[in-house]
Amino acid sequence: MGTIADKLASIPGYVAAVADYEPLARERLDERAWAYVSGGASDEVTLRENAAAFRRRKLRAHALRDLTGGNTRLDLFGRMFTFPILLAPVAYQKLLHPRGELETALAASAQQAGMVVSTQASVTLEDIAREAQAPLWFQLYVQPDREFTRTLVRRAEQAGYEALVVTVDAPVSGMRNREQRAGFALPPEVEAANLRGMAPVRSGSSGNGDGLLLGGPLLSAAPTWRDIGWLRSLTRLPLLIKGIMTAEDASRAVAEGADGIVVSNHGGRVLDMQPATVDVLPGIVESVGTQVPVLLDGGIRRGTDVLTALALGARAVMIGRPFAFGLAAAGAIGVSHVVQILRAELEVAMACVGCRDLGAIDASALWTGPPEA
Ligand code: FNR
Ligand code: LAC
Repeated sequence: MGTIADKLASIPGYVAAVADYEPLARERLDERAWAYVSGGASDEVTLRENAAAFRRRKLRAHALRDLTGGNTRLDLFGRMFTFPILLAPVAYQKLLHPRGELETALAASAQQAGMVVSTQASVTLEDIAREAQAPLWFQLYVQPDREFTRTLVRRAEQAGYEALVVTVDAPVSGMRNREQRAGFALPPEVEAANLRGMAPVRSGSSGNGDGLLLGGPLLSAAPTWRDIGWLRSLTRLPLLIKGIMTAEDASRAVAEGADGIVVSNHGGRVLDMQPATVDVLPGIVESVGTQVPVLLDGGIRRGTDVLTALALGARAVMIGRPFAFGLAAAGAIGVSHVVQILRAELEVAMACVGCRDLGAIDASALWTGPPEA
């Protein structure tokens, strides 16, 4: 068996696909951390649907095309990325590995993968920036205290973060039944390091409304479109809005000055019974057109899923649980391996579909025949 350190450093030889990391992570985490990272909201219909919807889409392979000089490069906000897969913001990574986000940053640096650091990271954004030699974006949760929020933005700018990703799909926490059943609570050694010194918001119903939540202090502090305008005026960093699931919200985000959209339902962790992100992507791409890049996350488990998302108009994708499982199973090596696997799968898929670069990927890469029985 060996010590935890031994376990974290070893990847069994049979690991060949992202899915192989899931049971390893489960084995190496306690039941509560496992519920936190793998679970979703309520009945987890949306969590499952995100991945299942990719399985329903099929590819169209084009033979004999010239593939010389191929690559997976893309430009996002003036920065060149080697491949279109970023690490999504995942809170409290010390639940998954003793070094938490520092370990992920090491992997991102080794792979030259873009990493999005959560407001609720368990290591400060400055410490992560010192560790990383990869493009970093900062994921912002607008805090009830707007002055504190402004400070967070300034800190991210000063530490060299290259974009701000404002998450808008979680005005409150989801109904995480799996976490509740497992008795999940943050252990004392894991904290939201960036939020040190911030006054906690009172929850409960002390406002005007009669509900448990609506009308209370928690929701009167929740961000609105007005905060997007405020953030736009506050920073010159590219501003992405994460958690968009409708064409009308996507258009509004662009009208408010967003530089990018992340189609996301938070990996099915907040509101259950939403459709898969890949199923709402085409309508959102249509409404936004070519004004700003549209990214997608949720359910990406294979390079073919990345290709499918790009064929439907996404410029890039983000992965959450896949790298989180790699982190839990084998630290930076696991995260690196997950990224390598997805990159290799994407390149194989591109070659077989006949796309030498990302610009060659379009709707003709997707099968549009009758649905299977
Ligand atoms: C998340 N996600 C998330 N999103 C965000 O904007 N801020 C955050 O702090 C977190 N925290 C977080 C923790 C954990 C454990 C998970 C699994 C996810 C959502 C994340 O950025 C992304 O939207 C989803 O994880 C994408 O779905 P997949 O790839 O996990 O299917
Ligand atoms: C989550 C929050 C932190 O998904 O975004 O756990």
